[in-house]
Formats: sequence, structure tokens, C-alpha cells
Amino acid sequence: QLQAASNYQEPYRNQFHYSPLKNWINDPNGLYYDDQTQEYNMYYQYNPKASQWGNMSWGHATSKDLIHWQEQAMAIPMLKNQAWEDFTYTNQTGAQANQRVRYVGSPTADWGNTPDSKAIFSGSIIVDHNNVSGLGKNAVLAFYTSSYQLPERIDDHLDNGWGTWVGLSDIQEQHLAYSLDHGKTFKQYSPDGNSAQPQPIIPITVNPAGDAANFRDPNVVYDQQHQQYLMTVVSGQQALIYRSQDLLHWNYASTIKRQNDVGLGVWECSSLVPMKVKGTATTKWVLFMSVQQGAHATGSGMQYFIGDLDAKGQWHPDSEQTLQQPHTLDYGEDFYAGIPFSNLPNDQTIMLAWANNWSYNAESPTTKWNGNMTFPRNLQLVQNAQATDGYEVQNNVIAQTQTITQPNSLTKDQQNLQLTNTQQTLPFSGKHYKLTATLKWNPNKKPQSVGFNVRQTPDQKYWFTIGYDVSQNKVYVQRFHTGEPQMGAPRDQMNAVVKADDGQVKITSYIDETMAEVFVNDGAAAITQNFYFQPDLINQQTTTGISAFVNGGTAQINNLQLQPM
Ligand code: FRU
Repeated sequence: QLQAASNYQEPYRNQFHYSPLKNWINDPNGLYYDDQTQEYNMYYQYNPKASQWGNMSWGHATSKDLIHWQEQAMAIPMLKNQAWEDFTYTNQTGAQANQRVRYVGSPTADWGNTPDSKAIFSGSIIVDHNNVSGLGKNAVLAFYTSSYQLPERIDDHLDNGWGTWVGLSDIQEQHLAYSLDHGKTFKQYSPDGNSAQPQPIIPITVNPAGDAANFRDPNVVYDQQHQQYLMTVVSGQQALIYRSQDLLHWNYASTIKRQNDVGLGVWECSSLVPMKVKGTATTKWVLFMSVQQGAHATGSGMQYFIGDLDAKGQWHPDSEQTLQQPHTLDYGEDFYAGIPFSNLPNDQTIMLAWANNWSYNAESPTTKWNGNMTFPRNLQLVQNAQATDGYEVQNNVIAQTQTITQPNSLTKDQQNLQLTNTQQTLPFSGKHYKLTATLKWNPNKKPQSVGFNVRQTPDQKYWFTIGYDVSQNKVYVQRFHTGEPQMGAPRDQMNAVVKADDGQVKITSYIDETMAEVFVNDGAAAITQNFYFQPDLINQQTTTGISAFVNGGTAQINNLQLQPM
């Protein structure tokens, strides 16, 4: 499914980014490559009932090439919360009401109308090649968080049929489910053997951070050097590391405490990833983290920290500054909760993320579905003398992307332009394409900015901007001119600082129906950004034009390529 099917043609439907046919999705979960079926598996937070968040379960899609995805049957549905049972009661007026559930967790019967299920929150997958778990050779083990509610104190009105909940507490615990059919269906694992009422493998009682409501998103990785499995679990402002030999029994090992957290929301969806430093024999352990509010652009976003890991399962930041000055993984608003694929051959790190932001996702104008994924990204750790700890993660699309990229639409003589204080329409019409260009100027006579107004209307009143601000050294995207309704008061301009002291910068951008992924100098920085043209506008006009602009001086645009996708 490259979304080419006729039922993916609704307004605002991205064409070459994965979205489910209907309903809500958020975080990618359990990304893994199945070396037996040679398929990539993507699971994700999914609401099987509606296009808003709720009823969280694991949806599923598979792919042979990481580009074309086929939606599959839901993989892990919600669990029953055994503390509750459906209950029909008669209220004071004698009418029957069925909408209540009864708390059966204690000998004193209690009443309430809270959900009677345990949601399946985010997590990860490990293929158990050597059957260390005893669950089966090549069993596919899914680690996830169950999130549910327990009453704290109840006003007991057993006789009249009315109950008042005085408080409910949120509980999150780590669970395991496993698949013996290559990730299609999962069985719940329970330490006590009762899979009908699965118990957690890490219950809330052993969270040293002591935060019952925030204890989630287990991400498991194999530590080859010390021959142990590690799991990171986030809990508020902390990340906890657990260790295991058999993937079933987990011992708490260490805590990573956040520093400088003024204005930041909770940590979510962490992953510890061993990455070879490009061109060396050194391996570093990179801690990827999603921050729910206060991230770089606005609202939620992803950061990373470089460090090392010892035999006891303790992660050591590279320098004193590491935790204080996180790196930004993507400078746009819409790259969140990304995790790496597990079980990939050849030390690759491929990550994809939910292309959305908790600060405004509920307002996006899509109807029968909500949310899609970014392109899979190839992440590489490289040395960078200017970075705090001497390293940075380069972030670019995977090579397979070229298989869906058509040849350049421009002729040789249309590929190089020199512009002075002007905007020029380019001979191209399209909505979904790859845009590549090298922008050049005289470093001693800098223009102010140079770039493109993409998806421009014929009257040239509406567009989305991708540009380089030469005077401030930053690549930026802007959605001032899309006419979109203000969503959650996000920022209208997203910036990534990139110094182009030698007078040139390369921009590569993948533009889909409602999102752009912009890469600078082949991965030195990335900006992932959604944009929604105002609904009336897209009914009345096309948004297929593109123009190049230079403000405040002269610049060249070289090797310009516009390749339909
Ligand atoms: C991140 C997140 C996770 C949680 C999931 C719930 O976007 O909040 O921390 O597991 O979404 O859907």
C-alpha cells in the first residue's frame, strides 16, 4: 500500500507516508525486522473504534521494503481490567441502566462508571532467536505498558445503586505478550501462568521512581558486549534501566535523571541504542528520548544524549553537559515517539516516528483517520568537533526512498538559476515530490534569505515556505501562508541552525499532501512539519505551484531537481 489505492484519496491524505485506512494512531510500537519472513513489521498505538485517542491497542502493518506498507489485522487488543465487571443496576427511579461496571477487586462491592479495560500502551519487540525465554525458538516478544485505573476511595451507596468515585488512580505496568506466527497474533504471558488474567512482568510496586501514573514505554535492546538484555522504562523525569538474561525476569539496574527540566513535560518512549561512530571502531550508547511538552519547536519533540554503558547496566553521559544540553533529533513540530527497528542486519539504525505533536493533534482536520508516520530514517553517529560531546546523529531518509522517486522534471537549463530580490515561478506543477537544490551566495555579500514557496496557489496568495535565512544561519519552514486555522497556537516558523560559512547549503525535501520532511546537507539537520491548507482554499484552487525566491541580495540555485513521488 503506497496509499495509491482509491480509498486513500480523501482531502489531506498523505500519499507516501503510512496511515491506517481509518481511526486514530500515535506512536510506532515494536518496530522489528523478521529475518524469517523478510518483512518489516510496524505496530502502533491504535484506537480500533474512533479517530480520536482512546481504547489504545496495537495496530499492525508489514512491508517488504520499508516504503510500501500493508495494513494488517490488529495485533494486540485491550485487556480486560479484572478489577471491574459489567453490571446492570436499577437506579432510584427504577429505570435500568447498563452503562456501569462494578469494582470487584475488594470484598466491599463498589460502584462506578470507569473503563473496565487495560489499555495497551507503547513498547518494543525482540526476536528471541535462542529461546532464552522458553516461549519458543524465534518467538517474537512484545514488551508493552498496560495502563488502567483503580479506585482510591469510594463512597459506598450499595443500597440505592449510586456510587460516587472519590478518586481513581492511574496505574502503569510493564507486560509481555508473544507471537509464534511472525508477529501476526500475540498471546499474553503471565508470570503466574494465567494468561487469561495476565500479570505484569514489572509491576508498579517495583518502580523506584515511585510514580505510578507515569511508568511506561519499555524498550528492550541486547547488549552484545556484556551479554545481557536491557530495558529502558520512562517514569516522569527519569529513565530506569532494567536487566535480564531470559527476557522474563527483570532486575532494576540504574536510573538516568533528567537535568535542566524547566518547562519540559514528562519523558516518553525512550530507547538506548548502540551506535558505531562512523569511520571508527568505537561504539557509543545513544539515549533517544521523547519530551511531551517544551521541546525544540513547540509541544512534543525528540532529543538525544550520547554516552557509554557499563557491565552493570548503568549509562554514563559523555560529559557533564550531556544531560543539560540535549541534542535535537528533528527541528520541526512533527517527529515524535520514534523508536529504532530491532533485529536489523548490519548495525543499521532505522527509526520512524509519529508525524504529529501532542499540542495540537486533536485539531487536525482529517476525519476518518488521524495521524501518520514519518518516512523511515537512517540514523548515523558521526564525529562533530563543534558539538558539546563531540558527536552528532545524522538523520536522513533511507536509500530505498529513491525507488518511488521519479526522474527530474526540469531540463538541464532549468536547473540553475541566479536571482536578485525576486520571486520566480518554476516550470513545474505537482503536489507530492522531492525537491533538491544547492543554494549558493557570495559569503562577502550575503543575501538575506533564499528558498522556495512550495504548494503555491495560482493567485500566489497561499504557499508553504522552505528556505535558508543566510543572515541568521538557519534553515526554516514556515506555514504563515497556508491559510490554515491556528492549531493549538503552535509556532508558525520552525528553525534549524546550520552554519553555511562557505556560502552554500544543500536542501532536500520530501513534500506530501500535508507534510514536508526537510533535510539539510544530507542529514546534518532535519525538519519534519505538517501543514494543512485551509479547507475552503483546497476546494477552490489547486496548490500545485512552486516558486524560488531570494530576498535582500543575490543567490544562485544550483542542481535544482523536482522529482514527482
Ligand atoms: C507517547 C505516549 C506514550 C504512551 C502512549 C499512549 O506519545 O504518551 O508515552 O505509551 O503515547 O498512547
